[in-house]
Amino acid sequence: MPPDTVVLGETVPFRFRPVVPKPRTQDLGMFAFLKAARKNPITTWMRAHFEQPVVAADGVMGRITVVSDPALIRYLYVENAKNYRKDDLQRRILAPGLGNGLLSAEGEEWRNQRRTIAPIFSPRHVVSFAEPMNFAGARLARRLARRDGAHVEAANETTRVSLDVLERTIFTHGLKRDPDAVGRAISRFLEAIGPIDPLDVFNMPNFVPRIGRLRARPAGRFFEEVVDELVARRRALTAAGADAPHDLLTLLLTASDPETGNGLTDLEVKANIVTFIAAGHETTANALTWALYCLSQDDASRERLEAEADAAVGPDGHFALENLPFAKAVMEETMRLFPPVPFMSRQAIREDRIGRVKIPKNSTVMVAPWVLHRHKTLWDDPDAFIPERFLPENREKILRFAYLPFGAGPRVCIGQSFSLQEATIVLAHIAHAVRLDLAAGHPPVVPLHRVTLRPEGGLRMLVKRRH
Ligand code: HEM
Repeated sequence: MPPDTVVLGETVPFRFRPVVPKPRTQDLGMFAFLKAARKNPITTWMRAHFEQPVVAADGVMGRITVVSDPALIRYLYVENAKNYRKDDLQRRILAPGLGNGLLSAEGEEWRNQRRTIAPIFSPRHVVSFAEPMNFAGARLARRLARRDGAHVEAANETTRVSLDVLERTIFTHGLKRDPDAVGRAISRFLEAIGPIDPLDVFNMPNFVPRIGRLRARPAGRFFEEVVDELVARRRALTAAGADAPHDLLTLLLTASDPETGNGLTDLEVKANIVTFIAAGHETTANALTWALYCLSQDDASRERLEAEADAAVGPDGHFALENLPFAKAVMEETMRLFPPVPFMSRQAIREDRIGRVKIPKNSTVMVAPWVLHRHKTLWDDPDAFIPERFLPENREKILRFAYLPFGAGPRVCIGQSFSLQEATIVLAHIAHAVRLDLAAGHPPVVPLHRVTLRPEGGLRMLVKRRH
């Protein structure tokens, strides 16, 4: 790691600046664009996207307007949110895998589900999930400490821990079947539906089979069977008057819409369990993986995190979120540089105007955290990893609509506090137990956009036990 440098007589601390695909300076032709979009969509962004507030372009997917001005994003997501719906491309990709859960439902169906499910993710419930998160974090820390001196694949470890958290918070006692088999089925399923299929881009109807989806089918079926079994077991338990465990499954089965009093149907419960797992596991796992990568390249931040974790650990070996401001800042800064959801898109229901740009009816409008979080006009030293930006004393300098790893407005991520709490607690467990360095001779770490943003080829790390 290079030493601190002296600039105009002042010592400037070393800052890690991850190497990422360079913005393009020239337009890609149609076929080159499709090829790049299928391989790794973040390589298609142009320099203008990182410098201009709004960029509109006509291409193979029709007119796409990318908005990166916080006031205009507020307009899109809040003030005129009713004029925008999830676009067809996103729904075609998500709906076959997730059924009509919260992420892919639209209109009245979405509104009813959101009203019913929102209280489940209230601060009171999220705090009550700190315990299972601590259990899963401690288990991971023990597993890593046992590998002292060995190499691990960090992406596998973070995926395992995020599935462990979801299993403990959704189903309390985990699954009867081999939990790793479930994890593998979910990963295969997401892997297969991940790449953008050109048939989707060209609006081919759903009955035209997509190769990726065919590959995903057996994994998807296995996954659904597991969920069916769990819902049936829990319904039987509650019907028999037995004490149901406090977890997301019980909360979903007993939730009721505050306006109508209606509960969720079994189909909706199942669709949302699948949705929570799909929306929650890879996103959180990737955020943690990127945090481990950034910390391995920044000694000062890693030492500060270790000191915080050592001081914050309770007598039971558990951590409380409020004692981990730096760990939380590391997670937030990591999600600025490596947003797990690199772009979100919407479709205009009626013609509109965003700032001075006309938005034709049915055209696509995007907000891309990948671009927004590295935008030259919104951030100081945008490419540098500086967790201090997110410490409580600096946090309010960040504009609300300049930092959107979880989206915003009515469709903001429902699992936002859940996942930030989870990632922070798990990171503290890791930092307290071990130090992870990038394996010697590791190839360059390149972000790959596959539904979420992950290091291409994984992240091999050397484990050093700390205590
Ligand atoms: C680091 C972790 C996570 C990130 C970065 C993330 C990001 C996002 C983003 C950007 C959206 C909005 C998409 C859009 O506007 O088009 C979203 C929606 C959603 N997320 Fe997350 N998410 C994370 C974790 C979770 C977890 C743990 C859960 C559930 C347990 C979850 C459940 C959902 C659901 C259900 C929606 C759809 C909400 C709606 O449309 O009403 N997410 N997420």
